[in-house]
Amino acid sequence: MKKRKEKIAMLTAYDFLTAKFLDQAGIEVILVGDSLGNVIQGNETTLPVTLEEMIYHTRIVKRAVRNAIVVGDMTFMSYQVGVKEAITNCGKVMKETGCDAVKMEGGDYMAEAIRRVVEIGIPVMGHLGLTPQSINKFGSFKTRGVEKDEADRIFSDALLLEKAGCFAIVLEKIPAKLGTKVSKALKIPTIGIGAGPNCDGQVMVTHDMLGLVEDFKPRFVRRYAKMASDTKDAFRRYIKDVKDGKFPTLEESY
Ligand code: KIV
Repeated sequence: MKKRKEKIAMLTAYDFLTAKFLDQAGIEVILVGDSLGNVIQGNETTLPVTLEEMIYHTRIVKRAVRNAIVVGDMTFMSYQVGVKEAITNCGKVMKETGCDAVKMEGGDYMAEAIRRVVEIGIPVMGHLGLTPQSINKFGSFKTRGVEKDEADRIFSDALLLEKAGCFAIVLEKIPAKLGTKVSKALKIPTIGIGAGPNCDGQVMVTHDMLGLVEDFKPRFVRRYAKMASDTKDAFRRYIKDVKDGKFPTLEESY
């Protein structure tokens, strides 16, 4: 698709119906992101998500999907400890969920583990820029790669991850100029989220693009629906119908 200059569309899913709808709509890649820690579990960060929880959600998503590539996100501390742990846990996710690939955050310090995981037959998507599992190192969710030093590091990390065998790299919250530079330099596709229009594909958290999350609207989120207000409206109308004795009618009874 990169060679054909065809943009790649990727969104997240954590449950059966969302995954089914995304697949039916023609999405190319479904990420079972550890963002489930935020939007499903209500945590402040992605750090508490366990490998078992990721396996649970990825298995459900995979069950719904016929065409899209399903990528399981590797959870915090399931792959950073060492090469052996990375191989064991990436293998566990692939084996127990049937997903098509895994995603790992990090640059040069993850390159060797990624190389070995790819070598044994597990496709890996990389993730650079604002990597949420490093939030306590960064200290905030601000744009990464603004300063030259960090921009240069993200660029060289991207080259390293390609060399290590990643089949694609997510670029999160970096300047558009850097997104363009990385995308032009790599043969593998870049998937941007707040990384400008010149990445080879785009990803968003589905709950954000559906307008389900009301109190989080960074510049890179475009809302395609108003599901929070529509859902609350439906709940209110149901409650009112029950209280008014308007639901159920005799036609809706046995
Ligand atoms: O966990 C996630 O949903 C992600 C995407 C935002 C890329 O990593």
